[in-house]
Amino acid sequence: QGEKMRVVFFKTVLLLLWILRVNGWMHSKCNIYDYVDDMPDRDCLQGYSKGLIASCKYVTDIEEDLHGLPQNINNLCISMTMDENGIMSLDFFSQFHDLEYLDINGCFSQILPTGNSQALSNLEYMRLQALWVTGCCDCNVGSNTFRYLVKLSNLTISKFRLSSMAPDVFNGIPNLRNVSIGNSCVKDLSEILCRLMYIKSLTDLVIEAQEIQTLNQSNCPILNTNESMTPVFNNLTGCSLIFGEITHIEEGALDCFKNLEKFSSYLNEELLLQLPLSGIKQIHLLRYFGSEHIDFRSICNLVFLLSIKKLEFNTNYPISFSMYHVDLCVGLESIVLTRTLHFYTSISQIKWNFISTLKNVTYLSVYDRTENSLDLCSFQKQPITWLNKLVLYLNIQFFFSNQFSCLVNLLYLKYKSKLSNIEDFAFLGLRLLEYLDLSNNNITHIHANTFYGLYSLIWLDLRENPLIHNTEALSFTHLTSLREVFLGKLNSPLREPVIKLNLTLIFGDILSQLTQLYITSSMRPMYIGRCVEI
Ligand SMILES: *[C@@H]1O[C@H](CO)[C@@H](O)[C@H](O)[C@H]1NC(C)=O
Ligand SMILES: *[C@@H]1O[C@H](CO)[C@@H](O)[C@H](O)[C@H]1NC(C)=O
Ligand SMILES: *[C@@H]1O[C@H](CO)[C@@H](O)[C@H](O)[C@H]1NC(C)=O
Ligand SMILES: *[C@@H]1O[C@H](CO)[C@@H](O)[C@H](O)[C@H]1NC(C)=O
Ligand SMILES: *[C@@H]1O[C@H](CO)[C@@H](O)[C@H](O)[C@H]1NC(C)=O
Ligand SMILES: *[C@@H]1O[C@H](CO)[C@@H](O)[C@H](O)[C@H]1NC(C)=O
Ligand SMILES: *[C@@H]1O[C@H](CO)[C@@H](O)[C@H](O)[C@H]1NC(C)=O
Ligand SMILES: *[C@@H]1O[C@H](CO)[C@@H](O)[C@H](O)[C@H]1NC(C)=O
Repeated sequence: QGEKMRVVFFKTVLLLLWILRVNGWMHSKCNIYDYVDDMPDRDCLQGYSKGLIASCKYVTDIEEDLHGLPQNINNLCISMTMDENGIMSLDFFSQFHDLEYLDINGCFSQILPTGNSQALSNLEYMRLQALWVTGCCDCNVGSNTFRYLVKLSNLTISKFRLSSMAPDVFNGIPNLRNVSIGNSCVKDLSEILCRLMYIKSLTDLVIEAQEIQTLNQSNCPILNTNESMTPVFNNLTGCSLIFGEITHIEEGALDCFKNLEKFSSYLNEELLLQLPLSGIKQIHLLRYFGSEHIDFRSICNLVFLLSIKKLEFNTNYPISFSMYHVDLCVGLESIVLTRTLHFYTSISQIKWNFISTLKNVTYLSVYDRTENSLDLCSFQKQPITWLNKLVLYLNIQFFFSNQFSCLVNLLYLKYKSKLSNIEDFAFLGLRLLEYLDLSNNNITHIHANTFYGLYSLIWLDLRENPLIHNTEALSFTHLTSLREVFLGKLNSPLREPVIKLNLTLIFGDILSQLTQLYITSSMRPMYIGRCVEI
């Protein structure tokens, strides 16, 4: 009772403080926050936040609607209304001398530079997005617009038509390191690259350009004929290129990039051959979208040539994986195989023995709706020591005993589908498994030996199952490392008016070591046999 009282008391005090703060500064379109946690729309800060935050919404006129904002704000998020929003002058922001972070979502006809070398001199992060616009915002941005932003190190521009900006729009920003160009409605990569050429300090680059179909060599007017653009990109440590449906890659088109952090695109068999000739030497993560039937061996050929470490493979075309296909994929460390549609996939085949070839793979995720078996271990002569994390979305309803027994170093297992039957000892052998996520399945019974052998299990999630009125006594008692359990919603048969759950009976001695036990009953009375402090 005393505990409860104290909690209520604290809440009252917090509420009062909050009211005082809000009363201290009232504004029709902006809210001020001391802490990012108080902020409902904190996404605009991308995880960054130091100091005082102002968030303004439904803004139609920046100068009018932001009038009277405290001048010592450090972060400013502005969300404009959907209409086209006139001219924006960066000069307006010079009154906020401590501004470090500026995020604006809106479309303007023009952005005017500041004529003042002191303006925005503390700005480090700027993001300009025109999220509401279909297509791209045609915004006129002239030469050297961002010149005086001496501290600007991180710039994102998204959904602004780049060809409406001056070729040297990014000239003279001395410390710009990270640049992200979201969709910019250009068909020619050189429209982007030639503008980036002015950013001598660039180290991190993300380009997303869904509209580009052919990757050609860039020909930038600012470069002399015997100058190459490579030196500007020499200091790039991270570069990600995200395309849509490319149809042709010219030889040398990506010469200025040697190493890519990420390359994402639809690729056909022909492009898989063109990509290694593009000038790219290495790709860390390849996100592949299949636009036709493909032999997985040609993917592995690319993996080999470009030292790819992580592969995310998406296709809706039938595909075969087995040991036979993956020889050249031995360098992979992480694989995600995904389908988005169901209807094509009925002939695809997965033979799980491919895992025994891929000895560097620590992470494997497979999403596949066909009736493949999940025969991971029966053909393995040696234990699979390299796999740590396994995530499966399969069309399999049944786990048999010892199903995972060869995965001796597995730490994390997630299975999400229609699993309804788990044979006793199904998880035997998973001695090191710490996280087991069986949420969103069709499990109705937990038996005393269902989880037998999971000595290291810390975290167990059984939410979103039609479970658990059928949990046998002692089902969890042998899980001696268990700390967090999520049973979710308990469904008792309708004819029983009260759900009875004797926690001592199912958890035994380990009940006292749990730090988290999550149970809900869907509006029906619930009786719990022992009170736990949660
Ligand atoms: C630039 O990007 C890299 C990688 O995403 C990140 O680690 C770094 O903190 C970023 N730097 C700035 C100034 O945002
Ligand atoms: C800076 O840029 C990188 C991309 O290069 C991005 O991942 C990161 O989130 C940005 N940081 C902030 C604080 O905006
Ligand atoms: C790339 O080159 C091809 C042939 O040389 C040409 O048809 C295509 O239009 C070019 N693409 C761009 C974006 O310039
Ligand atoms: C690359 O970085 C080095 C060291 O930070 C710097 O001296 C050099 O000027 C940079 N190169 C370019 C093209 O900016
Ligand atoms: C070509 O490069 C040389 C040095 O490699 C330089 O002296 C010359 O001025 C350059 N020519 C042009 C047109 O820039
Ligand atoms: C597998 O990983 C090890 C250790 O990181 C590395 O030395 C080896 O080269 C990798 N194998 C392949 C084929 O890349
Ligand atoms: C769930 O399992 C029951 C049998 O236990 C079955 O009748 C039902 O069709 C299953 N539901 C789904 C979505 O697979
Ligand atoms: C719950 O189970 C324990 C162990 O079997 C038993 O001692 C206890 O009486 C039960 N509690 C209730 C309320 O049924």
